Amino acid sequence: MRYWSHSEIRETFLKYFADHDHLVIGSRSLVPVDDPTLLLVNSGMAPLKPFFTGEQDAPRKRLCNIQKCVRTNDIESVGDRHHLTFFEMMGNWSIGDYFKQEAIEFAWRLISEGFGFDTSRIYATVYGEDRKLPEIPSDDESLRIWETLLPPERIIRLGAESNFWGPAGTSGPCGPCTEVFFDRGEEYGCGQPTCGPECECGRFLEIWNAGVFMQYDLRGDGMFAELPFRSVDAGAGLDRFSIILQSVDSVYETDLLKPIVEIVVSESELPADAKSVRIITDHVRCGTLLISDGVQPGNLGKEYVLRRLLRRAFLHSKLAGVSSETLLTAAATVRELLSPYYPEVKDSGELVRHTIEKEHASFETTLRRAMRELEKIVDSSNGSITGADAFRLHDTLGLPLEMTKELAHARGLTVNEKEYKEQLEEHRRRSRG
Ligand code: ALA
Repeated sequence: MRYWSHSEIRETFLKYFADHDHLVIGSRSLVPVDDPTLLLVNSGMAPLKPFFTGEQDAPRKRLCNIQKCVRTNDIESVGDRHHLTFFEMMGNWSIGDYFKQEAIEFAWRLISEGFGFDTSRIYATVYGEDRKLPEIPSDDESLRIWETLLPPERIIRLGAESNFWGPAGTSGPCGPCTEVFFDRGEEYGCGQPTCGPECECGRFLEIWNAGVFMQYDLRGDGMFAELPFRSVDAGAGLDRFSIILQSVDSVYETDLLKPIVEIVVSESELPADAKSVRIITDHVRCGTLLISDGVQPGNLGKEYVLRRLLRRAFLHSKLAGVSSETLLTAAATVRELLSPYYPEVKDSGELVRHTIEKEHASFETTLRRAMRELEKIVDSSNGSITGADAFRLHDTLGLPLEMTKELAHARGLTVNEKEYKEQLEEHRRRSRG
């Protein structure tokens, strides 16, 4: 396989779909517009929901783009080979136009002929029946289509957890999906006889959700309604394509992230694959993109997402011996890398610098106070920090639970999270009262 830079991957993806009548649209902001069900745009389809429900007319029945996305549900996994909080999703959509046959064929042809992936390493998953969703039948049609392309042992039926996608947010279009995996080889695997695309070990990398077949609209009351027409939402992670097409071990060695890692390690004793280095790299990148879309740090909602990312990056910078000046250089590198694709990133230099500097100063003050408190707590604890203490650090000193955990772990202590959550609930109840 030859080397593909991320810009070549972008161009090839968009050109392929443009050549097949898709209109290339730009990425939307990470901040959802008129969608109270969603904190931040988490997928290519999220900003397009009104097209799939028929509330708005799409400019064309076939669309494609590369959308900026943020997902923080896997934040604890950041630092492994491929989990990121910010990523770019290459997407193609049929809005009441093509369905399963064409969607799968598009993905297959682009993977095999377009990019030249080694197809003997490709696996596909399709939706099989699942008791959790008794109203959704198994997707036999996708199975039959894949059978014309892959040997049967490389097509796997999975349940709702893996192969029913959406909605983005708490309501909206969703459906069974078919995903494409690339087998990275035994050296990446767990060696268990059951290892396959559903295994978490990292051998099988999901490279493309080749189609969410959107027939259903999950309503606010938890019931499925039929959508007025059937659509396809397909998405491929640019970062994951880059891992394979650049033959590197992790996303941090691709040309999307390596220049940022290099800035971070230039000032640290830690190696480039240290978890702290990766967390700093990922979080500074995500933070820079959020600030460029107008988000500011705060204590609620998307503002809190940004605060948490930045403060986590600051904390790991302390652990890694990286100064705030270097973090600013890393943020400038993020902007340099992504400016050609997102005009708002090009124009956000001052805003990014100012926001990071201000948040860093307030973090330092908080941390100094919280550390003094924490030391007292640690002295009087026996192996575990109580939920009440963790809550007090959060409530009175603004130290997020997440950071209390990290500081506690560094001292070999645990935090009683269950009790923390009870305290938080109790506090919320009282505030409401
Ligand atoms: N929206 C689909 C996903 O994120 C394509 O996997």
